[in-house]
Amino acid sequence: MNDTQLSSPGATAAPLEDRRVLLGVCGGIAAYKSAELTRALVREGARVQVVMTEAATRLVQPLTFEVLSTRPVACDMWQTAPGTRIQHTDHGRQSDLIIIAPATANTIGRIAGGLADNLLTSLVMASRTPVLLAPAMNVEMWSNPLVQENLARLTNLARYHVVPPESGELACGVDGAGRLAPIDQIMDDARRLLSPQDLAGRFVLVTAGPTYEPFDPVRFVGNHSTGLMGYALAAAAQLRGARVVLISGPTALNPPRGVEVVSVTTAIEMRAEVMTRLAEADMLAMVAAVSDYRPTARATAKIHKTSGDKEIRLALNPDILAEVGSLETRPLTLGFAAETEDVVAAAHRKRAAKNVDFLFGNLVGGGRGGFACRKNSGVLVDRSGTQESFPLVDKAELAHALLDRLAPRLATRTPEEVT
Ligand SMILES: Cc1cc2nc3c(=O)[nH]c(=O)nc-3n(C[C@H](O)[C@H](O)[C@H](O)COP(=O)(O)O)c2cc1C
Repeated sequence: MNDTQLSSPGATAAPLEDRRVLLGVCGGIAAYKSAELTRALVREGARVQVVMTEAATRLVQPLTFEVLSTRPVACDMWQTAPGTRIQHTDHGRQSDLIIIAPATANTIGRIAGGLADNLLTSLVMASRTPVLLAPAMNVEMWSNPLVQENLARLTNLARYHVVPPESGELACGVDGAGRLAPIDQIMDDARRLLSPQDLAGRFVLVTAGPTYEPFDPVRFVGNHSTGLMGYALAAAAQLRGARVVLISGPTALNPPRGVEVVSVTTAIEMRAEVMTRLAEADMLAMVAAVSDYRPTARATAKIHKTSGDKEIRLALNPDILAEVGSLETRPLTLGFAAETEDVVAAAHRKRAAKNVDFLFGNLVGGGRGGFACRKNSGVLVDRSGTQESFPLVDKAELAHALLDRLAPRLATRTPEEVT
């Protein structure tokens, strides 16, 4: 049995962790919103180099971005900066992604026209780095055929991506399309562009959250699962190019962008939704904390308090993971098991008992992550008996680390694993 401790930098990284992002800010009224974007990028671990056009500096002080990115802002093509030999080429080539937000009609036109007459357009011209444009402008500008033609010209090239503006009240007082896309959406597109597309063309099924097993119309047997881990896994798989269906027990979470969510309440409902989709799935991640038991009876009216104790009789619920493991053909399957002690032995035992490809055992409670917190740690075991420990990291980061291990296995599944 091998035990590897996951520690290499980048191996577990969420898409923006330690990535170099060049954020171009143009002279649009939405330039102030890019301050929020800078914070969001930095919060996810990106190293952000802000480049402002001269027009942008008239609307927002570079100092704002300098403070938020903790780096000097580059504005002038004719000035050298520490760490760069030739500023108008180095910043672009040294980046993993260029985001231009807001992208003005002017800058879009200049890039599309092949011009390189300021620092930002020169940096774009002098690199092959993917560019994400987030246009923002007045509705007349946005609907101007020249702007649309310029954008179409750029998106015809694989390097350029657009996160379109949304409709709403614009700074000029009119309602219409042209408002900078929400920061969340720009972040999501940035994450996607920096994620490996190793699940492109794959269908991934994820279960998440608790199940509630009611015994009257207002009460149930349940658990503390919040769904965070399963939602993080679904979001990560979607970013990596998969079509994802998330079968979710009751949670308070927003559906991840681009993921189809099927809401269920009980284990029996969850089983039915998994089974109907299983034949098409390439990968199944059973992250839900499915209740092992359900009350044998469900009263149609609220059970009232009476003197003395009451007993609730419980029946065994279907074991969805074991059922998948017993099927003749099945997708690559990852199970999760929450344990309060001896997690490594339990993970090996459960993986073998349920005949699944991977099992992630995580300790819950005692500050070790798991239920109802943003972080998680644990051990991943597979069919070969290999085990890998994962330190306490953000669940989004852990989701990507797990997919780093699973995605390559899709292409190399042995007959024993498939059937
Ligand atoms: C107050 C103000 C707000 C502006 N807002 C926008 C805008 O939202 N979108 C846009 O494309 N241009 C806008 N402009 C026009 C640009 O600033 C102008 O086209 C400028 O040349 C853009 O330069 P740049 O692309 O190098 O940043 C605005 C101008 C002013 C004075």
